[in-house]
Order: sequence, then structure tokens, then C-alpha cells
Amino acid sequence: MTRLNRREFLKTGAAAIAATTLPVSLVRVAFGAKGSMEDFTFAYISDSHIQHLGGSKFVRNWDRGLIRAIREANLLAPKPDFFLFGGDLAQLGTREEIDHGLDLMSKLRGKVYYVMGEHDYYLDLGEYWESKLGPQWYSFDHKGVHFVVLNSILTYDDWTFTRWATPKERMGAMARLDNPEGSPFLVGEKQRAWLKKDLKGVKKDTPIVVCSHSPLQKIFKGWNFWTDDAEDVLALLKPFRKVTVVYGHVHQIQYNQIGNISFHAVMATAWPWPYPGSYAQAPNHLPELTVPMNRADPFFERDATGWQFINVHTGNVDMHYQLPNNKDRTVAFNPKGSRPEDRSYQRSENRIPPQTHY
Ligand SMILES: [Fe+2]
Ligand SMILES: [Fe+2]
Repeated sequence: MTRLNRREFLKTGAAAIAATTLPVSLVRVAFGAKGSMEDFTFAYISDSHIQHLGGSKFVRNWDRGLIRAIREANLLAPKPDFFLFGGDLAQLGTREEIDHGLDLMSKLRGKVYYVMGEHDYYLDLGEYWESKLGPQWYSFDHKGVHFVVLNSILTYDDWTFTRWATPKERMGAMARLDNPEGSPFLVGEKQRAWLKKDLKGVKKDTPIVVCSHSPLQKIFKGWNFWTDDAEDVLALLKPFRKVTVVYGHVHQIQYNQIGNISFHAVMATAWPWPYPGSYAQAPNHLPELTVPMNRADPFFERDATGWQFINVHTGNVDMHYQLPNNKDRTVAFNPKGSRPEDRSYQRSENRIPPQTHY
């Protein structure tokens, strides 16, 4: 959406959310006046990390982040056709956390599609999640767009099944950053075979939106901003003209273009992660295109959280970030370079020195 369009869009009834800074994404899929398909919106909420403290107590900050996002989402007008939850509903995958997270999510008025996060999975390998929410990967069509939901946080079988004395140890190991005992994420052969079959019936010019938890690219291994078989998954998506991957897990603004595929991260309702580039102990591959967010105040708990409008316009994505204590940002698809670019800060001379970002 352009500025003007956004204003018009807000005028249609979403003005109530304009003044807030909540971590819910509104995705507007627009095909243009000439298209035969119908424009629509959906909303995206991610990474709530609901954490059980014992008894009826849960970490309050994470609860509040999710509750605010849900309230926000319920106020959206026009009402989104559906919601996506981007994974990491729970912190340590327990029934209490999943039940409490789903109890909060039940207040959302509308259909919700869920993505599996590693924090939901590694205690019981998704068993309880699946009993509540259904299959861990699936696809659906909505008004001319093919949506694919993947479980991208699987890993190698020997790590999952033979390495740990208890499920709790395994969960703890996957929840840690910089864990030399960790293991990189995988979509895996079985799911790739499913995806190949699923895409067989999809026309090459049908817009595809893939929802994964981890980035389907290799950014920083130590924090699992990384999917080990990303190239194999992208190869399956290569024949399609309009592909966008939307992912959670990284809790920060990231965007990238690899061939025909655009990538955008959504923000978390729980907390922001620092950028791996700020951490010099290991090489990282933050996409060169990404101009990181400025971390103005690390002691402000909502700093570097926020929410965004996303416009999937004829298959290309424009992100409009609303950030508390930070300037709004627009990262829009530039057809000239066939890649997403920050409208203000992509050119390094527009950034604030001595920062390399803005
Ligand atoms: Fe997360
Ligand atoms: Fe995650």
C-alpha cells in the first residue's frame, strides 16, 4: 500500500488500530482492479512464547503481548478473512502452556491457521499440539491464493530420538541459543515429497504464500535463523512466478529476495531478538538487503516489537511497520530491481551515522 492507499484503507474502518503499536500483522492481498480474483485481508500473529511458572501462573509480559494482539486483531475492519499464528505459541511445549495459549487465542473471532514452532514441538514432538490443532503441515486455497503451511523446525533423527535422556532435556537444548549441542532445522524429505505433490495441482501464475516458522534461508546457525534444507525447498517453489515466504522465529524485521522468492519476517508478541550482526562471535549472513531496526531503548520491553500491514500486491509483498519508539518503516517490492527495498533507508546515505542501520 502506498501512504495514500494506507490512509484510504484506514478510512474504511481500521482507524481504531492506527494509534496502537501492537504485534499483529494485517495482510492485504490485492490483485488490482483488472484481476478476476477478489482482494482480501488476513492477519498474522507470531511468537507469543507463553511460559508456565507453576500453578496458574504464567509470565505476565508474554501473556499481555498476546492478549493485546488478539484484542487488536478483533478490532480490525474490514474483518480479516482468517488469522495465521506463526509458531512458538508456547515456551517449553508443555500442555499447560499450549492450553493457556489456545485459551487466549480462542478469543480471536475467526478461523486461525497455526504454524509449528520449535518451542511447541520438542517436548513431545508435536503430539499434544497436533491433538489440538491437526496436521503439522498442510495447504489451503483462498480466493485465488495457494497457502502452504510447513513445519520447518524438524531436525535430524539421531538428534531427536537418540541423543537425550528425557524429552525435557531435548526441549531445553532446542530452546537455547548458541548451543553447541543444538541441531539445525529441517523441513525434511517426507515433507518435501508432500510439498512437491501438493504443488503439482497449482498453476504457475497462482500466487503462493508459504508460512514457515524458521526462515527458509541460511542466516545465522547459532540461533537457528537457519533451515538446513532450505535450497531443496526453494527449488520446489522455483517454477512459480509469485512466491512469498512469511516466517516468524527471528523476532525482528528481515527481508530478502532469492530468485523469484521474496522473504519477510513477522515480529513477535513476546520480545525482540538482537540482530546476529551485533554479535561478533560467529559469522552471520543477515541478508544484505535487510536494513536492521534501530534499537533505541533496550530497557523498553516493547522496543523493537510492533506490527505491520502487509500488502501482497499481485504476488509481491509490501510491509508497513508500525513501531513504538521508532519511526514507521515501509519495505516495498521494487519492480526495477525485483526485490524488496526500504523506502527511506535502503540507500546508506539516508541512514543516521555512525549507525549502519537507521
Ligand atoms: Fe520465537
Ligand atoms: Fe522459534
